[in-house]
Amino acid sequence: MRTQVGIVGAGPAGLFLALLLQRAGIDCVVLEARSRDYVESRVRAGVLEQGTVDLMADLGVDARLRRECMIDEALDIRFSGKLIHLDLPGLSGDKLVHIYGQQEVVKDLIAANLARGVRVLFEAEATGIDDVAGNQPVIRFKHQGKDETLACDIVAGCDGFHGVCRSAIPADLLTIYDREFPFGWLGIMSESPPLPEMTYVNHDRGFALASRRSPHVSRLYVQCSLDDDVANWPDARIWDELHIRLGYTARTELKEGRIFQKGITPCRSFVAAPMRHGRLFLAGDACHIVPPTGAKGLNLAVADVRVLARALIEFFRGGNAGRLDRYSDTCLKRVWKVVRYSTYMTTLLHRPPEQTPFDREIQLAELDYVLNSRAAQTTIAENYVGLPFEDE
Ligand code: FAD
Ligand code: PHB
Repeated sequence: MRTQVGIVGAGPAGLFLALLLQRAGIDCVVLEARSRDYVESRVRAGVLEQGTVDLMADLGVDARLRRECMIDEALDIRFSGKLIHLDLPGLSGDKLVHIYGQQEVVKDLIAANLARGVRVLFEAEATGIDDVAGNQPVIRFKHQGKDETLACDIVAGCDGFHGVCRSAIPADLLTIYDREFPFGWLGIMSESPPLPEMTYVNHDRGFALASRRSPHVSRLYVQCSLDDDVANWPDARIWDELHIRLGYTARTELKEGRIFQKGITPCRSFVAAPMRHGRLFLAGDACHIVPPTGAKGLNLAVADVRVLARALIEFFRGGNAGRLDRYSDTCLKRVWKVVRYSTYMTTLLHRPPEQTPFDREIQLAELDYVLNSRAAQTTIAENYVGLPFEDE
């Protein structure tokens, strides 16, 4: 097989990129290790920045989102019995965020790709890339038990944190920045009517978050230990912690509905730079992850492929490689701002196991400062709704 752009991974990064290239008449093939059913039901993100929603509209894949999404105009932070209420449009120049599950985005993108004739191969696991530094890289992959190859002009490594593309770059050419936080998130989906606002909590017992997916489904998280196991979290323990951390010991605020999904996510920042080697371009979680506290990973993946698609279109149309050459630098500027924001929110809202009394007081002072400072609230709001795009 051969194509112009071989895309490894059918997550948000790979699927958005494929649609952008297809629209520009550039041939691409998407290789996805898992089954269609698996990727369409993988529960992850839920907060979409305006830029992500605008791109879905621009690509004509927003019909179901418009019908089913929920719009968030506020974000609440609770601590020490106090409430910080951030009015997002008021603080950020009329911007807001949309709540729509990542797996719904992925379903819509897969359907559109297939309807528009993009070849998306499921259960096609890339095993390596040959000749990334040359002019004709080749992706090796296994499909339906057979070893296959895909010859490409360009390879887009959109294969997530545990993919193979990053390791195709010689280790001595990559700088790795890595910070693991000493805690994780236990996340559940529950048939419970959600709280009226997206609610983050810094409680003496640790972080909690009440988000949602629909008027009937809540997405709830509690800080857990780094090496925790869902087996340690029977439903009753989860509800106990949520009631306590949200601050309602009467247990009336949150309805204990049926829990139908449980999972643990580590809190980690990781950046591999540069995001390009020869004809291989990395995008999304393949080259950077952020702790989920900022709700940014998916949006950052989408921001990368906007830049990459534009650069590839210029390259294939006129042979101009200028934007491709700037791809990594352009993306990393946004990446580091998002890492900064996600680190800030993570540090502000969690209680690390060895937190000193000094650090706890600083944290509470910071929260109290945010409570009373419009400038501090503006900083959170404008990052949460999404920073503007610079390289237009
Ligand atoms: P992925 O979604 O990981 O996609 C990569 C794809 O590549 C996968 O389908 C994988 O199966 C495939 N693949 C891997 N290896 C191979 C291979 N060898 N060959 C072929 N295919 C391969 N982000 C937000 O923006 N907002 C949020 O609210 C938010 N909340 C989150 C909550 C949780 C609990 C978690 C875990 C994450 C959250 N994120 C959030 C982060 C977000 O989910 C990720 O950043 C996003 O999925 C990145 O997209 P991606 O396309 O880069 O990678
Ligand atoms: C979610 O709805 O899954 C969600 C919301 C906010 C976050 C992370 C995840 O910061």
